[in-house]
Amino acid sequence: MNREQISALAHAEHPIKSPLDDDSVRQLLERCLPHGDERVLDLGCGGGEWLLRALAMHPQLEAEGVDISEGDLAQARQAAVRLGVQERLVLHQREAEEFTSPHPFDLVLSVGAAHAFGGLLPTLAAARKHLAPGGHVLIGDGFWEREPAPEAVEMLGEFADLATTVDRVAADGWTAVHGHVSSRSELDAYEWSCWGSLAAWALDHPAHPDSAQVLGTAATRRSEWLRVYRETWGFVTLVLRRTSR
Ligand SMILES: C[S@@+](CC[C@H](N)C(=O)[O-])C[C@H]1O[C@@H](n2cnc3c(N)ncnc32)[C@H](O)[C@@H]1O
Repeated sequence: MNREQISALAHAEHPIKSPLDDDSVRQLLERCLPHGDERVLDLGCGGGEWLLRALAMHPQLEAEGVDISEGDLAQARQAAVRLGVQERLVLHQREAEEFTSPHPFDLVLSVGAAHAFGGLLPTLAAARKHLAPGGHVLIGDGFWEREPAPEAVEMLGEFADLATTVDRVAADGWTAVHGHVSSRSELDAYEWSCWGSLAAWALDHPAHPDSAQVLGTAATRRSEWLRVYRETWGFVTLVLRRTSR
């Protein structure tokens, strides 16, 4: 089973593919969509969960999503039809960095996808290219709650602490007008859900040739979370505006 298939099974039960619950997602979207007729872009949209919620909240809103995963985009397309919002959603299967558009967007989102750009600041640079004057950026990325073990850095990548993360964003010309730090409960719910869904799939498909591999992966990933990074890794989602136009 490849990484994309593992990821699809792991995320099957969680509302979005990032460690935030439904209420947090709704509240953040409300902050970013003051008028309800915005044009919204999601770079690394996965199954389109943020966009689908925004479209369902606001009948005048239009949205575009970019992701490399054909499976995730197919899921987003089906969900859009179920919700009756497909006319207002355009999906692009493409490297997010390569996406271009003839028009700017009032809200540019990128949550849990900074690795696609090589980090937080390069993600903001990409968002800036697509942002309409006065628009919002909603960006979600990891940070270190405490000094990480070298193994955790190796596993999850380079992050800063929360204050340094926000300072770097400010120095890059952005003002945080709101933010959300995922609670311990949101972080735990996400990890339990990912590795639990994966394990449950393996138990439900004992005759599948990949069953044992998937069960092993679920156990390894859960153990890495509990032993290596649960105490040190956090996730912040920032609502940003350009400091000066
Ligand atoms: C952790 S998921 C987050 C999905 C979504 N933003 C959410 O919060 O539910 C990261 C997403 O980034 C996508 N991705 C990874 N590399 C990418 C790239 N180079 N271009 C576009 N999307 C990419 C993955 O396919 C995946 O859907």
